[in-house]
Amino acid sequence: MPAMHLNYTPDGQVTERLMGFYVERARGGVALIIIGGCIIDEYSGARNMINLDHDKFIPSLKKLTDTLHAYDVHIAGQLYHAGAYAHSFLIGRQAIAPSAVPSKFTKEIPREMTRDDIRYTIESYAKAARRVKEAGFDAVEILSCSGYIINQFLSPITNHRRDEYSGNLENRMRFGLEVAEAVRDAVGNDFTVLIRLSGHDFVPGSSTNKEICAFAAELENHGIDAFNITGGWHETKVPQLTMEVPRAAFSYLAQRIKQATSKPVIASNRIHNPVIADRLIRQGSIDLVGFARELIADPELPNKTKEGRLDEIVPCIGCNQGCLDHVFELKPIECTVNPRVSHEFEVPPSIKASQPKKIMVIGGGPAGLVAAVTAACAGHKVTLYEKTQELGGQLKIAGGLEDRREFETLRTSLIMRTQKAGVKIHLSTTVTRQLVEKERPEIIIMATGGKPLKPAIPGVDGRNVVQAWDALADRIDLGKEIVVIGGGAVGIEVATKIAKIGTLSAETLQFLFLTQAEDSITLHELSTKGIKKVTIIEMLPKIGMDIGLSTRWVTLQMLTRYGVNIRTESKAVEITTDGVIVEHQGKTDLIKCDQVVLAIGTQAENQLMQKLSADTAQIIVIGDAKSPRKAYEAIHEGFYSIYTLAHFGHLL
Ligand SMILES: Cc1cc2nc3c(=O)[nH]c(=O)nc-3n(C[C@H](O)[C@H](O)[C@H](O)COP(=O)(O)O)c2cc1C
Repeated sequence: MPAMHLNYTPDGQVTERLMGFYVERARGGVALIIIGGCIIDEYSGARNMINLDHDKFIPSLKKLTDTLHAYDVHIAGQLYHAGAYAHSFLIGRQAIAPSAVPSKFTKEIPREMTRDDIRYTIESYAKAARRVKEAGFDAVEILSCSGYIINQFLSPITNHRRDEYSGNLENRMRFGLEVAEAVRDAVGNDFTVLIRLSGHDFVPGSSTNKEICAFAAELENHGIDAFNITGGWHETKVPQLTMEVPRAAFSYLAQRIKQATSKPVIASNRIHNPVIADRLIRQGSIDLVGFARELIADPELPNKTKEGRLDEIVPCIGCNQGCLDHVFELKPIECTVNPRVSHEFEVPPSIKASQPKKIMVIGGGPAGLVAAVTAACAGHKVTLYEKTQELGGQLKIAGGLEDRREFETLRTSLIMRTQKAGVKIHLSTTVTRQLVEKERPEIIIMATGGKPLKPAIPGVDGRNVVQAWDALADRIDLGKEIVVIGGGAVGIEVATKIAKIGTLSAETLQFLFLTQAEDSITLHELSTKGIKKVTIIEMLPKIGMDIGLSTRWVTLQMLTRYGVNIRTESKAVEITTDGVIVEHQGKTDLIKCDQVVLAIGTQAENQLMQKLSADTAQIIVIGDAKSPRKAYEAIHEGFYSIYTLAHFGHLL
C-alpha cells in the first residue's frame, strides 16, 4: 500500500482516526504499508501531515507500529519534501527549491537554496530516517516522484543552478544521491531503504524514463534496496489518477526500471485489480504491486483475493471525490464506495441487527443497492424492487461511456454483492400502495432516484429537443449540429460522447499504428476529429463547476481535444427549429443546430411517498429521491440508513 496523505493528523501526531484506518488495512492482509508522506522539516510540507521533524513524534509513531505489527504486516515511513511544490500558506514561509523557478503547481516563486539549505535539507532527511527506525518501522522510503524536491534537482526545467548540483545529468542527480547516502548512513546496513521515483515526468523538457533509469542505476550504488515507481509530476497534462487512465497504464515505466537495476521494483497507479497485478508479477514485468486507493475502497482486498472471494471486492472507481478532492479541500479523506473510511475507529466493519426486520427497498440504483446489501449482511430480510429491467440506475447510464466504464465495474460489483447477500430482487416491478400493503414491510427504504429537469423556455417540447440521459444511453438518433444546454458534469459527459462520434476506436488506432498505415499526425487527427459539431451553453462563468479539482481539468481537456465549443455566461431563452436563441451580456443571438440536448439537472422522483400513509411502515428516503446529488451521497446514505437502524434500533 503506497503512501497516502490522509489528512487525519491535524497536529502531526498519530490519531485514533489514523490508527483505525491502518489497523483495518493491516488486518485485511496487506504485506507492506507505506505510511506518509511525513514532513521532515519546516520547509518540507504542511504540519497536518505526519510529522518526523522532531523526536517528540517518535512515541506516538511507535504506538502505531507496535499496533500494526500484531497483524504480521511490514511498515515503512515515507520521507516527504515538496520543495517548490510546498504552498507558502501551508508551511508558513516561502518554499525553497534548487532554483527560483515559478512553480506551475503552486503558482508561487520559491527561494533558491543556498549551500547551507542543501546541507540542512539532507540532514533533515537523515534525522527523519533515524526517527523512522527508532519508531519501530521496518523500512524507510524516500519520496522522489510527482515533481517534489529531488525531481526538481534532477530536472533541467527547475534546476538552473550554477554549481555542482546543476548542468549535466550527473550533477543534477547529485542531490538525490546524497540524500540516499545520508539516509543509508542514518539507518545502517541492516535496514531497508526504498525510493519512490516518477517513471517519467511527463512534462516537456523534463526527465523521461531514460534519465530515470540512469538515476535508478546510480541509486542502486548508493544504498537503495527497492524502487517504487509512479507516473508523472503533479503539473503534468497527462492524467495519472482519473478513471479514464487505463488499468496499469504506467506499469511499462516500472518494467523498464526493472531492466535497468537488479533490485526489486514496485509498480503502482491504477492497477487496482488483483488479477492484473498477478499477471504483471508472474510475467516478470515487475516484482511487487502497490494498491493505494483500491485499499481505501476495500481494506480486505488481499484476504479476499487469497481466499478466492474476488466477487466480494469493492472496486475503487478512480473518481477521487472522497480521497484526492478532500485533500485539495484540506478535509480528512473519505471514499465514495466505502462509507466507513475515516470512521473505522467508530463504525464497526460488520453491522449486526439486534432485531432483524422485514425491509422493502424501492429502487435499484446505487443508494438502493447499497442499502439492500448492507441490510441483508446485517441480518435483515430484504426485498428490492426495481421498475426497469436492470439494476444500477444512473450507474448504468454513466458506465456505458468509454471514459466512465468504472461506473459499470461498480454496478456489476454491487449487483454481485447484493445477490450473494441473499437479497430477493424483483425487476420490472413498479411498487404501488397495494403491493406495499400486501407485502407489509416493517421498513421501507425509498431509493427511487431522480428524473431529468426540463427548463421552462419556449420550444422545449419541440421534436428537436432530447434529454441528456437518453443521448447517453443511446436511446435516440443524433443530428449533425448539437447544442447541449447545461455545462455541468452531465452536460460535459454527453458533449464529449457526441463529439467523439466518428473518431477511431482504440483497437483500430492500435492496428493502424502498428501496421504504419497512417502517419502519427493523421492518426491523431482521425482520433480526435469526429463528425458532429457540438456546443455547450452554460449560464455560469465556467463549466464543470460540480466536478472536483482532481478531475475537472481532465474533463475540460477532453472537450478541447474533441473540439467542443463552449459558450459561458449564456442563457438559453428559446429553442426554435433552427437552433437555440441565447442571451449573453444583454444581447441575443442564435446558435444554429438541428438538435438540442438538455442537461440542466435532476429532480427527485418520490411521488410514491405521498401515496403511502405514515403508519404503513417506517419510511426513509435516500439518494436522489431525497435530493439529487452524486453517487457518493447515494452510497453513503444507503449504508448509513442501515447502520443507524442497527445501531440505534430505529431510523433517525
Ligand atoms: C489521497 C491521496 C494522497 C496521496 N498522498 C501521497 C503521498 O503522500 N505520497 C506519495 O508518494 N503518494 C501519494 N499519493 C499517490 C498514491 O500513493 C498512489 O501513487 C496513487 O493513488 C495511484 O495509485 P492507485 O491508483 O493505486 O491509487 C496519494 C494519493 C491519494 C489518492
